[in-house]
Amino acid sequence: NKGNYEHYMQKEIHEQPESVTTTMRGRLIRGGSCKAKSVLLGGLKDHLKTIRRSRRIVFVGCGTSYNAALASRPILEELSDVPVTMEVASDLLDRQGPIYREDTAVFVSQSGETADTLNALEYASENGALCVGITNTVGSAIARHTHCGVHINAGAEIGVASTKAYTSQIVVMAMLALAIGGDTISNRARREAIIDGLCDLPNKVREVLKLDAEMKELAKLLIAEQSLLVFGRGYNYATALEGALKVKEVALMHSEGILAGEMKHGPLALVDENLPYCFTYSKQQSVIQQLHARKGRLIVMCSKGDAASVCPGDSYRVIEVPIVEDCLQPVINIVPLQLLAYHLTVLRGYNVDQPRNLAKSVTTQ
Ligand code: UD1
Ligand code: BG6
Repeated sequence: NKGNYEHYMQKEIHEQPESVTTTMRGRLIRGGSCKAKSVLLGGLKDHLKTIRRSRRIVFVGCGTSYNAALASRPILEELSDVPVTMEVASDLLDRQGPIYREDTAVFVSQSGETADTLNALEYASENGALCVGITNTVGSAIARHTHCGVHINAGAEIGVASTKAYTSQIVVMAMLALAIGGDTISNRARREAIIDGLCDLPNKVREVLKLDAEMKELAKLLIAEQSLLVFGRGYNYATALEGALKVKEVALMHSEGILAGEMKHGPLALVDENLPYCFTYSKQQSVIQQLHARKGRLIVMCSKGDAASVCPGDSYRVIEVPIVEDCLQPVINIVPLQLLAYHLTVLRGYNVDQPRNLAKSVTTQ
């Protein structure tokens, strides 16, 4: 049921304030007499000790689910004290990459049925790793075959391009980082700031959704372009990859997510006044200057109130987003790109909910 919306993707983008709320429901413990703030993930509570003792945490996923894990990697590294590595499921299988008994392997999948991820799970399980699932579908193959896990509870996602599952996956993985990380005096302020940030996140998502009309205007500007480059670093690296994935999978426009720190090592050669628009983030002043110096047409995403300092000029479009705790910023920053991909698709006349050649869950290898 699409309600008042024309497409499922549009509905799913706009219901993110509610879906992130249901993801957190019953899992954040705030206040109380001792003012303790903590996280309870029922599915993991008996396994946290093993996870904390593991030699590595290995994230495994495909497409958007991989990107969500990438967005969560920094906070997991920061709070857990366990090295975190990333695997695209098909590549792990191609390489028969090392997975050991002392590893915790975390399988991220909206559908819980993706063949590549499921096969990687079987492989990791055979190698003796503790296998943890982060899935949206209760009773799915990955939920059943993992030793333990967390349901993201985002509600059914129908649009082939994943939107609300992505933001809920990041929320779950931030909670996972809090659950694994010990509550020490030195990190208490950080933990509390993240928990407060999670509690306020639905309001901030509601706020960023108000950019809908602005993103539609931007889509009109980009409608005939061949390509869109998206730069990001740190917490925004995943946003760059996921934003570009949305643009290519639904709007059928070439788009590439590029780690901003790598720009000078290659992609900068592409940039001139004819370059398709670039999307980037304001904290990357040197990147912005390099792109500007080559007359690149820029779209800059920055924190609310920062637009004036992002040196507005003819070639700039500035999008201001609400600022949140850094590890939650990917939840906010992806929303304008989801909206942009959606409007571009509609304006270009393509099928929003079922892009050509793609399936919601790919159950063959
Ligand atoms: C569970 C209930 C929820 C109830 C809550 C009350 C289910 C599905 N969830 O939520 O309805 O409101 O208790 O305390 O009945 N699991 C995996 N792999 C996965 C995902 C989950 O093995 O990929 C396992 C978990 O380890 C857990 C079970 O499935 O044993 C349920 O997980 P989850 O729904 O996340 O647990 P709760 O949030 O505690
Ligand atoms: C498919 C979908 O390729 O599988 C993508 O078209 C999705 O949108 C990917 O990200 C992974 O799916 P899942 O269900 O394992 O998260």
